[in-house]
Amino acid sequence: MICFCLTGQTIEENLRLCERHARHADLVELRADFLSAGELGAACKFPTLLAERAPGMAAILTIRRQSEGGRYGGDERRRVEALAQGVGAGFSFVDLEHDLHAPSIDASLRHSAVTVIRSRHDTTHMRPDPARELGALPRNDLELPKLAAHVAGFSDAARMMLGAVEYAALHGQARRDGSGEAHRERPGGESRFLMVGMGPYGVPTRILARRLGCAWSYASASGEAAPGQLSPEVLDTLYRVRSHGPRTGVLCVIGDPIEHSRSPEFHNARLVADKRDAVYVPMRVDDFDAWLQLAHALPITGASVTVPLKEQALLAAERRDDAAEAVGAANTLLRTTGGGYMATNTDVAGFLAPFAEMELPRHATVIGAGGAARAVVFALLKQGCHVTIVNRTHERADKLAESMRSLTGLGRSMVKVLPLDDLGEVEHGALVVQTTTVGMTPEEEADPCPRLRFRGDELVYDIVYTPEYTRFRRRAEAAGCRTISGRRMFEGQGQEQYRLFATAARFD
Ligand code: ATR
Repeated sequence: MICFCLTGQTIEENLRLCERHARHADLVELRADFLSAGELGAACKFPTLLAERAPGMAAILTIRRQSEGGRYGGDERRRVEALAQGVGAGFSFVDLEHDLHAPSIDASLRHSAVTVIRSRHDTTHMRPDPARELGALPRNDLELPKLAAHVAGFSDAARMMLGAVEYAALHGQARRDGSGEAHRERPGGESRFLMVGMGPYGVPTRILARRLGCAWSYASASGEAAPGQLSPEVLDTLYRVRSHGPRTGVLCVIGDPIEHSRSPEFHNARLVADKRDAVYVPMRVDDFDAWLQLAHALPITGASVTVPLKEQALLAAERRDDAAEAVGAANTLLRTTGGGYMATNTDVAGFLAPFAEMELPRHATVIGAGGAARAVVFALLKQGCHVTIVNRTHERADKLAESMRSLTGLGRSMVKVLPLDDLGEVEHGALVVQTTTVGMTPEEEADPCPRLRFRGDELVYDIVYTPEYTRFRRRAEAAGCRTISGRRMFEGQGQEQYRLFATAARFD
């Protein structure tokens, strides 16, 4: 279930928003605190107009005070009056703050079938025990408890998600024991609570709301209603929130920042194509241990790992394969059947992906000796290719060669080092791989080794993919070389990652 928050200044504007987004939402929340002063009185006409413009859509009436993160700064009596009027006007739900008790509202409620959303908003910080906070709110046939709190970091987000799981388990148990109360068939169904983490770290609480047992997930067109809100389209089509249930598999990408990541589009599209009951969620993580605790509890079946968590992920995993060992960093964590995590690095397989369709030359010159070069050199050596490493800082190239020799047991004839200045004099391999960051946007005209003269018969692989045509690659093509774009490696590592997720994770 997706609840679309309406933050227009007029009733008409909100109705237009409903028409535009209705197909991605199951109910709407009229945030009457966003209405201009003259429009508040018209809020009670909203349900009738909604029935004409978006038939079948249930509505919530909310007039959030400024002290709870809303816009309403007016007279409290006026607000109570508008809420009491709204109760009899056809709204299915009315959102009342946990400390709001007004005889006029109670009187209206007695004669209506409206469900109260009894909400608590902690807009500046989250309290230590969200399950307890939620448990302290009334929960019965006529009231739905809601906790919304600002999450300042991932540990807050994890605590909230774990709190939701704990609360859902307790609540479900009570019902199975027969001590739980009956509930009416209304939007929200079996799930009788709401929990929301506000702010960028709270995004997973919104995407996973249904998976965590919440009645619905809140969305907005502009993100104005609460920070971190996603649009109904994104929740519905990218994350498929409406199809989630307690058994939905959870995959994620973790890093900080994470907003720019294209991985959710990539992996969710494949999950849809494969008809998996699983979702891939972006998680901005500034506390790896908190993530690990959540990962074990949910559980999270697989994770893509990005900057700055790759080394930590490698250290934390119970097991690691030789690719992760060689690179010294994990870009993938997979849950094992034993319940721990296995670290791997799909950059190795991603780099080799283009060679499924073309022959890998026997001799390669690798420019660079950083983290990316480690994956490339290891991949080449595993394929039996002779490698010469060239780097601006010679000692670093020496160190890389030495560590690869000890890791693979191969000798100096397989892994050599060449000073960068000698590259113009000594003949380079039939494959040249550019692994440095030179030439990457925004320094697109930079060339990592201008002294290198292409013969025209080499295969040139630049692993930089922003821009796709680096100066180095353009220079190689101008000399007649065949080239491979870094995009191939990027896509290859993602495909390999998905293959591992799909085989390691038991989603169903
Ligand atoms: P990554 O993980 O992306 O490989 P890295 O570990 O910082 O990043 O490594 C960057 C690589 O680019 C190194 O080989 C670095 O050379 P040094 O070891 O001499 O630093 C190389 N590099 C970065 N800027 C460079 C420049 N202006 N000219 C030549 N090489 C450069």
